[in-house]
Amino acid sequence: MSKSQGCCRSFLHFVFDYETTKTLVVPNLGVGCFFRFVQLLVLLYAVGYVFVVQKAYQQTDSVMSTVTTKVKGFAFTNASNMDPNFWDVADYVIPAQGLNSFFVLTNMVITPHQTQSRCPELPSPSTTCVDDCDCIEGYNNPRGNGIRTGLCENYSTTARTCEVLSWCPLEIDTKLPEHPLLAAAENFTVLIKNSVTYPKFDFHARNILTHMNSSYLKRCEFNRTTDPHCPIFRLKHMISEAGEEFQDMATKGGILGIVIDWSCDLDRWAKKCLPKYSFRRLDNKNPVNNVAPGYNFRFAKYYMTPDGVETRTLIKAYGIRFDILVFGTAGKFGIVPTLVSLGAGLSFLTLVPYVADAFMLTCVKKRQLYNRRKVEYLVEDADTEEIPMGTTYGTQ
Ligand SMILES: *[C@@H]1O[C@H](CO)[C@@H](O)[C@H](O)[C@H]1NC(C)=O
Ligand SMILES: *[C@@H]1O[C@H](CO)[C@@H](O)[C@H](O)[C@H]1NC(C)=O
Ligand SMILES: *[C@@H]1O[C@H](CO)[C@@H](O)[C@H](O)[C@H]1NC(C)=O
Ligand SMILES: *[C@@H]1O[C@H](CO)[C@@H](O)[C@H](O)[C@H]1NC(C)=O
Ligand SMILES: *[C@@H]1O[C@H](CO)[C@@H](O)[C@H](O)[C@H]1NC(C)=O
Repeated sequence: MSKSQGCCRSFLHFVFDYETTKTLVVPNLGVGCFFRFVQLLVLLYAVGYVFVVQKAYQQTDSVMSTVTTKVKGFAFTNASNMDPNFWDVADYVIPAQGLNSFFVLTNMVITPHQTQSRCPELPSPSTTCVDDCDCIEGYNNPRGNGIRTGLCENYSTTARTCEVLSWCPLEIDTKLPEHPLLAAAENFTVLIKNSVTYPKFDFHARNILTHMNSSYLKRCEFNRTTDPHCPIFRLKHMISEAGEEFQDMATKGGILGIVIDWSCDLDRWAKKCLPKYSFRRLDNKNPVNNVAPGYNFRFAKYYMTPDGVETRTLIKAYGIRFDILVFGTAGKFGIVPTLVSLGAGLSFLTLVPYVADAFMLTCVKKRQLYNRRKVEYLVEDADTEEIPMGTTYGTQ
């Protein structure tokens, strides 16, 4: 038999021999129970957890939403350092409309009658001076209050500071009232109107539910136990749900998140899609290392005095910003995710025999017998034929 003939023969064997696996049946109760137990675990995972709990048979879509808000309430202030003042929505909600958020003014530092003129700087190590030589004309410190004129002036009977060109008199922002000026804001209410869409499923909803009519909306108020779907919220109630004290938060300001969760199961057997509200404080109120706490910003109201001088009232506003965060995913039965997760779950079943084999070959009493019967070592022998048995192709 020539060498090329042998080569050809083994190629034919390679192509046309049918291979089948031989099964070794192990009549051992322990191994059998272990095998079925692992199979059961895999089935429980694939069906019980992935399908029933995780709802892997659903296709999902995330929410698209729009929010509008309307705050209501009045306040009257009669503080010692300012005129008696009546406040309504147009005064304390700044700006008049915001994107998914609204700000309610609760405390402020007011500096009235500012005009563009010259006045001495507020005393600090970098602004005190002895004479005009200490003040460079035109020097502009971003942390100061204006542009220096080059003069050194009496700030008070004891302190002399550099004069600046600025809006004078300068704001003294350490005079923040210890109790919020608009303490009455705790009883203000806000109506939140929220419409959501799941575009993939062509599903639309709003947080004013179908059973709510206008007379209901006039009297209802959100309360987690008695009326969890009313879209009208008392500010104090939202802040106490977030675990905070309204008057504390109102003094220095803060940011509160109103979370609206629209997670829905849109399958026919579970069609119930209602918003769930929760509240949490979003800014840091950690008492350790809380150097610049709260939330504030400045704005001004401009007017002309009768003699034609432009004048403004500067307000450093402290208050609570309410951010409305809408999130959610909806799920609905889909054939593709069903097949994909079914395949993925069941493919774990093919791993079970390997686990059972490992158990049988290492942990069972008769493991040596099973080892001998299951694993055969190939004994290499130069005389044995490459293809030891079975039919042969070609002539002998
Ligand atoms: C404001 O308070 C002062 C005393 O602090 C009082 O005399 C005055 O009547 C108050 N004004 C109003 C409108 O209540
Ligand atoms: C500034 O204060 C000093 C002493 O306190 C006083 O002698 C001087 O007249 C004051 N200057 C002005 C312009 O008031
Ligand atoms: C808010 O309303 C409650 C009850 O209506 C009242 O007791 C409380 O004094 C009010 N808060 C303020 C700051 O006016
Ligand atoms: C609003 O709904 C309530 C029941 O929820 C009903 O008693 C009332 O008559 C309705 N009002 C109007 C104006 O439809
Ligand atoms: C919510 O309703 C319950 C039961 O009527 C009442 O006890 C509770 O004070 C209410 N909560 C608020 C914040 O109004």
